[in-house]
Amino acid sequence: MPISAYIKETMSNKSAGVIRKMFEEGLKLKAQYGEDNVFDFSLGNPDLDPPEKVTDALKKCAADESKNIHGYMPNAGYKFCRDAMAKKTSLEQGVEISGDCVVMAVGAAGALNAVFKAVLNPGDNVIVPSPFFTEYRHYVKNYQGELIEVPAAADCSIDTEAIKNSLNEKTAAVLINSPNNPTGRVYSQANIEQLCKVLEEHGNKCGRKPYLILDEPYRAIVYDGTKVPAAFPLYDSSVVVTSFAKNISIPGERIGYVCVNPACPDKDDFVSAVIFCTRVLGFVNAPALFQRVVAESYDAPCDYSLYKKRRDELMEILDEAGIKHLVPEGAFYMWCKAPDCFNNDDMAFCDYLKKYMILGAPGSSFGGKGWFRLAYCVSEKTILNSRKAFIQAMNDLK
Ligand SMILES: Cc1ncc(COP(=O)(O)O)c(C=O)c1O
Repeated sequence: MPISAYIKETMSNKSAGVIRKMFEEGLKLKAQYGEDNVFDFSLGNPDLDPPEKVTDALKKCAADESKNIHGYMPNAGYKFCRDAMAKKTSLEQGVEISGDCVVMAVGAAGALNAVFKAVLNPGDNVIVPSPFFTEYRHYVKNYQGELIEVPAAADCSIDTEAIKNSLNEKTAAVLINSPNNPTGRVYSQANIEQLCKVLEEHGNKCGRKPYLILDEPYRAIVYDGTKVPAAFPLYDSSVVVTSFAKNISIPGERIGYVCVNPACPDKDDFVSAVIFCTRVLGFVNAPALFQRVVAESYDAPCDYSLYKKRRDELMEILDEAGIKHLVPEGAFYMWCKAPDCFNNDDMAFCDYLKKYMILGAPGSSFGGKGWFRLAYCVSEKTILNSRKAFIQAMNDLK
C-alpha cells in the first residue's frame, strides 16, 4: 500500500479538511451559478488589499539586485528581520525583547510545527480551549503528541478551572489563540492572568512548567477598542507564534515567526531547538524576500474598519433571520449556533445552508459541535446579497 495508513485514515475522516472541501465546492458553485449568487463564508482568506507601505516595500525589495540577495541566510532568519520582529513583539508584550529571541518561520503554521517538534516528547500533551483552529489536531499529532480539548466557558472565554483539572506531568504546552478563530473572542486581562496563575502553580507543584503558546496572527484585528492583553509579563515560559497572513493580508507569502519570552528559563535551548527543527522539517529558511519586506513594513498603518462594517452587517442579517451568534471582538469570524431543530448536527445544517448557496464551516471540525463558523472576510456585496438566502433558509424551517 503506497500511502501511509495513518494519512489515509486521517484524510478520510469526515470533519478533517471539511473547510477546504467547502471552499472548493464554492468555487465550483460560483463557476456554475455565477460569483454573485454564491455566498461563500467558508475560508479565512483576507480580502482587504495589503497596505501601501507593504506593497511599496515589496517593490523596493524585489528591485534589489545585491549579490546573494536570494541566497540562504542563517536558519533563524536575517538578523535585521529578527531585530524588527523583536521590536514589534516588545511593543505588543510590553517587555524589552532582543532579536535573539526570534526565529523566522514559514507562516504561523510553520512556526507552530517547529515549536511542537521542539518541545514534544512522544506521548506528551498540548491543552487547548475548544473550539480551536482545526489544524492544531494535525500539528500536534505530527510529533506523536496528544491534543487535549478543554471546552471553553459558555461565553467562549478560557475555562481556567477546567484547564487546571486537565494539566498533568505530560503537559508540554497550553495553546491559546486570541483573537480566536473560530469564535472571534479576545481573552480578557483577568482571564489571561488567571490562566498564567494556574500554569505557574502547576509548574511549581509538578516540576514541569508547560509552555504557554500564544498563537496571535489576528492580534491587530480588533473592534470597539478591544485590547489583546500581554502574557509575557505574567508568565515567563511563554512564546508568541504569529504571521503576517491576516493583519496585512499576505497569507500566500508564508511569512511568520516565533518569539520566546526573554525571561524564559530555557530561552537559549528553546531558540536553538526551534532553529534546528525549522531546518530538519525542511523549511530551512523563511522566505527571504518577505523577511526583507516585513522588516521594512511590519508597522504599516492598517484600517480594519471594513471588517467591522461587514461584521455589523452580517450580525444584522443573522439577527433578522433568527440565527444566534457571538459578537466577535476580533478576527473576522462569526460563531453561530445551528438551529435547535438540527439537534446539534452542525454538519447537517451546513449541508442545508448549501441548498441556499450559503457556505459556512461546520463547528465540529473546530471541536464545537452544534455551531458553525462564517468567515466575513468577503466582499460587502456578498454579505448584503446573502440576506434573502439566510432569511429564506430559516423561514423554510418553520
Ligand atoms: C488561529 C490560526 N493559527 C494559525 C494559522 C495559520 O496561519 P499561517 O497562514 O500564517 O500559517 C491560522 C490560519 O488560518 C489560524 O487561523
